[in-house]
Amino acid sequence: MLVRSLRGETVSPAPIWFMRQAGRYLPEYRELRTKAASFLDFCYTPDLAVEATLQPMRRYAFDASIVFSDILVVPDALGQKTWFVQGEGPRLEPLTDVGSLSLAGFDAHLSPVYETIARLRAELPAEKALLGFCGAPWTLATYMIAGKGGGDQFAARKAAAADPVAFQALIDLLVEACARHLVAQVRAGADALQIFDSWASALDEDGFSRWSIRPIGEIVNKVRAATDVPIIGFPRGAGAGYCPFVEETRVDAVSLDWSVPMDLAKTLQTRVCVQGNLDPARLVAGGAQLDAAVDRICAALGAGPFVFNLGHGISLETPPAHVTRVIERVKAKTAS
Ligand code: CP3
Repeated sequence: MLVRSLRGETVSPAPIWFMRQAGRYLPEYRELRTKAASFLDFCYTPDLAVEATLQPMRRYAFDASIVFSDILVVPDALGQKTWFVQGEGPRLEPLTDVGSLSLAGFDAHLSPVYETIARLRAELPAEKALLGFCGAPWTLATYMIAGKGGGDQFAARKAAAADPVAFQALIDLLVEACARHLVAQVRAGADALQIFDSWASALDEDGFSRWSIRPIGEIVNKVRAATDVPIIGFPRGAGAGYCPFVEETRVDAVSLDWSVPMDLAKTLQTRVCVQGNLDPARLVAGGAQLDAAVDRICAALGAGPFVFNLGHGISLETPPAHVTRVIERVKAKTAS
């Protein structure tokens, strides 16, 4: 179902999955999470990562699952020390020299992720798609340069402006690493891929073209040379930049944040499958406004290639029952 939509078919009822559908808003995840000392250990333990991926699939009628991992396994596998501080988020040893990073141990370091995918593909019913993913080079670079998340990505914007040659070398390495990671996920069993450019919104027009569109387009080319699964791009907060993003990266589908107006979404849908774009805050608040927002999205986008999703990751405040309600409503509203 998901794969057919991503390839441009109008599928009825529309497929649905949620970004970050596994995780702390689920009590069964919080319980499972106590079994690993650190978040990265959790990601690199196939027994735990398989179980975390399957938890939302048992509870809900989602059409797709996304492998439980993180975008920051890529810098970790390149040799930049990465860890997560409980309640605060990621920390990385600040990057001073691209030369300190290496692809040498990359595949071996990430082999638990591929084992997780292989086990998931064997366990999931054939009609449930399995997504692999990576962070886009720009978004990864923001964490690698600042050593943490949040803020306005000032450190990475400054680095790109001050020394574009050095910054390009980092982006080039990340293009190579991301493409390798995505191809390995497909070889392990992933049916489709998503590239998260979560901090695309921080770039100016020239920066967006150079550090978001161009590297993602290069990744798309490399992945297509090796595999044939559909690729979803998510340039979060790109505004008017969504149009050149779709034209120039040649992704199969585009994931829309909740600020994208339905008129723009419909224009994009004439070119590619669109995915989105419910505000996760509406999902938390629930009630009549949630139903109305779901209806607006389904009415605007349900007649073309479409995947229902959130406009960004699910909030940890989300009452699990609200998710069930949205899935049921989307299925009813997009049934033929
Ligand atoms: O169901 C799923 O989608 C789970 C797999 C998944 C995680 N992270 C698990 C996770 C995916 C697809 C991601 C992607 C990710 N990670 C992104 C891109 C999507 C987005 O939200 O923009 C980014 C920017 C990251 C980096 C990251 N990982 C941050 C900033 C944080 C801390 C903030 C937070 O939500 O806690 C993480 C940690 C993280 N990644 C958690 C989970 C379930 C929470 C940590 C924990 O459970 O201990």
